[in-house]
Amino acid sequence: MSDFLIGGDLPVRRIGFGAMHLSGDPRDTAITVARRAVELGVNLIDTAYLYGGGANEELLAEALHPYPQDLVLTTKVGVARTGPQGEWKIDGRPAVLREQVDGALRRLRTDRIELLQLHRIDPETLLADQVGTLAELRAAGKIGRIGLSEISVTELDQARSIVDIASVQNRYNVLDREHEPVLDACARAGIAFLPWRPVAAGSAGAPGSPDVAGRVAAVAAELDATATQVALAWLLGHSPVILPIPGTTRVAHLEENVAAGRIRLSDEQQARLSS
Ligand SMILES: NC(=O)c1ccc[n+]([C@@H]2O[C@H](COP(=O)([O-])OP(=O)(O)OC[C@H]3O[C@@H](n4cnc5c(N)ncnc54)[C@H](OP(=O)(O)O)[C@@H]3O)[C@@H](O)[C@H]2O)c1
Repeated sequence: MSDFLIGGDLPVRRIGFGAMHLSGDPRDTAITVARRAVELGVNLIDTAYLYGGGANEELLAEALHPYPQDLVLTTKVGVARTGPQGEWKIDGRPAVLREQVDGALRRLRTDRIELLQLHRIDPETLLADQVGTLAELRAAGKIGRIGLSEISVTELDQARSIVDIASVQNRYNVLDREHEPVLDACARAGIAFLPWRPVAAGSAGAPGSPDVAGRVAAVAAELDATATQVALAWLLGHSPVILPIPGTTRVAHLEENVAAGRIRLSDEQQARLSS
């Protein structure tokens, strides 16, 4: 599987792993899955403060620390609780972002987060204050690169006028291509695009076009692969900046997803699913 350079200089393999679903699992199973991902060569793992209020970050540290040198553990900040038992709310105030980054450094047992993503842009805080705070944290060496999540092209342009953006994480898969314009903007700028919900087409009863789901199933039969693998292979073939982060709580699904990196769709199969 070819590598991609996030921010132009941080190499990762193109199929990563989303750790969100590990939070609710029996701990030993979750740790086994995380370790198996690294054994299989995954070196981009996505987490967030939101996933258990830091518990998912702690779990990854327990499973994987001391980290292999090439492992990129990326986390997200900017969603906070309104009180100890309060609601989760988008909160991009500078003090909250700083506190969540400091907490993530502690929980991940590291002194630098190579890719730090803003989970959501907070409409109640100036964008310049949000990305400006992340730029300050980068200047201080606490983070290496800045990413955004669930953004529009306009928001990407606005953010890029203030600071370099290395990655974007929006919901996207072969059945759900609402964010194609954002993907195109990322491709033009060489920004990594980490689609979340990347394997939707492989899940039974996935929402989206039944027609596309049927075509995914047909291509899977042609390649003796699973629908999930075809959905991932389509993403890899669709744009060189796409880095899927499929999540699973099962080793068998993890192995299947990583193996999708070796599957090549023909131009005709790729086009059939794209159209
Ligand atoms: N930025 C954001 O706002 C945002 C939002 C949501 C998620 N994320 C990130 O994106 C990652 C992935 O997104 P996601 O978890 O929503 O979607 P996903 O990875 O596309 O789907 C996960 C679901 O698919 C199932 N699955 C995985 N591999 C499978 C396979 N080979 N065969 C059949 N089912 C399979 C999993 O169930 P099993 O456990 O049974 O395999 C799980 O229910 C998350 O882990 C998280 O890191 C980001």
